[in-house]
Amino acid sequence: AIECDRMLREPICCILGHVDAGKTKLLDCIRHTNVQKGEAGGITQQIGATYIPVEYIKERAKPREGIVIKVPGLLVIDTPGHESFSNMRSRGLSLCDIAVVVVDIMHGLEKQTVESLALLKDRNVRFIVVLNKVDRLSGWKHCPDAPIKKALENQSGDVKREFEWRLTKVVTQLMENGFNTALYYDNHKFRKVFDIVPTSAISGEGIPDLLLMLVLRSQATMVEKLTFVNTVECTVLEVNDDKDLGTNIDVVLINGVLHKGDQVNVCTKQGPVTTTIRDLLTPHPLKELRVKGIYKHHKELKAAQGVKIVAWGLKYAIPGTPLFVLKPGDDLGQSEAKSQRNGNEEGNMMQEISRLKTCKEGVYVQASTFGILEAIIEHLNSPGVNVPVGGCNLGPIEKKDVMKASAMLKRKEEYAAILAFNVRVMPEAHAFASESGVKIVTADTVYKLVDSFNEHIKRSKE
Ligand code: GTP
Ligand code: MG
Ligand code: NA
Repeated sequence: AIECDRMLREPICCILGHVDAGKTKLLDCIRHTNVQKGEAGGITQQIGATYIPVEYIKERAKPREGIVIKVPGLLVIDTPGHESFSNMRSRGLSLCDIAVVVVDIMHGLEKQTVESLALLKDRNVRFIVVLNKVDRLSGWKHCPDAPIKKALENQSGDVKREFEWRLTKVVTQLMENGFNTALYYDNHKFRKVFDIVPTSAISGEGIPDLLLMLVLRSQATMVEKLTFVNTVECTVLEVNDDKDLGTNIDVVLINGVLHKGDQVNVCTKQGPVTTTIRDLLTPHPLKELRVKGIYKHHKELKAAQGVKIVAWGLKYAIPGTPLFVLKPGDDLGQSEAKSQRNGNEEGNMMQEISRLKTCKEGVYVQASTFGILEAIIEHLNSPGVNVPVGGCNLGPIEKKDVMKASAMLKRKEEYAAILAFNVRVMPEAHAFASESGVKIVTADTVYKLVDSFNEHIKRSKE
């Protein structure tokens, strides 16, 4: 009875898994959107958050009578599966309550599935395994949006047998990684045994089951954690340089309430910054925070939510670090304590960044968001690629960036290049680049960016 009286917030759910397992497509199927199709190269390169209201979950999941849903909705976080994006995966995981590990039923466990499982074990996060792409079993009869048990009953003996042996294979692989799992409707010990939900992100089989299981398992196993408290807990996800909004940050509000006009303290590359929230925006329900669109403006927002904050001084904010609210009643000591704490967080973060190895001779990298910058540098430093990085910056390319890159002209000419991802090139910078011979390479995926750079090197050697 006590549990019913509690005010619960939305569980935050992080979607993890190997490249192309269908993480984004699964969310598209839930939202009735088409985000995946719009992604450059069909790959996710940024963390995204989507709010799913409880009414919508009820409508899709159609819970049996007697099943009580106690949470007000779900906040779902999509992550990239490509190798270089391990920072974003770990960031997504660190703020979630429950995770979904997506496995392609035709492939079983893959490299980044195993990596994700290790992270989950390490951080002791509960998860549900989604066995996606069941429609690829040969002879599968589509049963759009049907509960998976019903859809399986509809299949031929051959399809059922193929399903069974592929399921068994995945269960064995999961066991080898230290996890007991079972099909969720056969799982009578869900506190010890993890659930498997088979799905198709194309025709929607199993989607009702997944939505319901996320809600039921969360509210059954983490009431304490999901109880709303009025203390702001908020993490920076991404920094954006937007033509219309200016520099803004995407945050996940995990607990508490944010107000327009709040004084907040944020970690930046240049130390803790105190600033005032000028605008508080969210995408509409069932829309992605990372997809540019029409935002809703708010005077205040209650957790859990994915929020875009517009304020001055955020250009060098560091993803993964907390945002603190300074209360009007806070005395200077308290505010300083918060800044101090942010200062320490920042210290740790700077160590993280300095691990992203830049050296004296190397290319210059510039990107629209911090997360992408990390991923590009990670990829450039990886053994198969091995392109040294001499410097980096965020936001539009300005003349001073080209000047920094031009230092390589005398030292190692081929590295006199700026690898630019989704940033504007200011006219002066462009002119100076052509004049001095600094090459600006652009592309819409991390991988193509490096390919284009390699082509440039090849051409300049010819
Ligand atoms: P990354 O973000 O790059 O890690 O990939 P992802 O896990 O988000 O996979 P994505 O949603 O981009 O899907 C990869 C490909 O698999 C796309 O071509 C999808 O159309 C396809 N796909 C995803 N889910 C299903 C499914 O259930 N059935 C079938 N047949 N294809 C699927
Ligand atoms: Mg994706
Ligand atoms: Na993909």
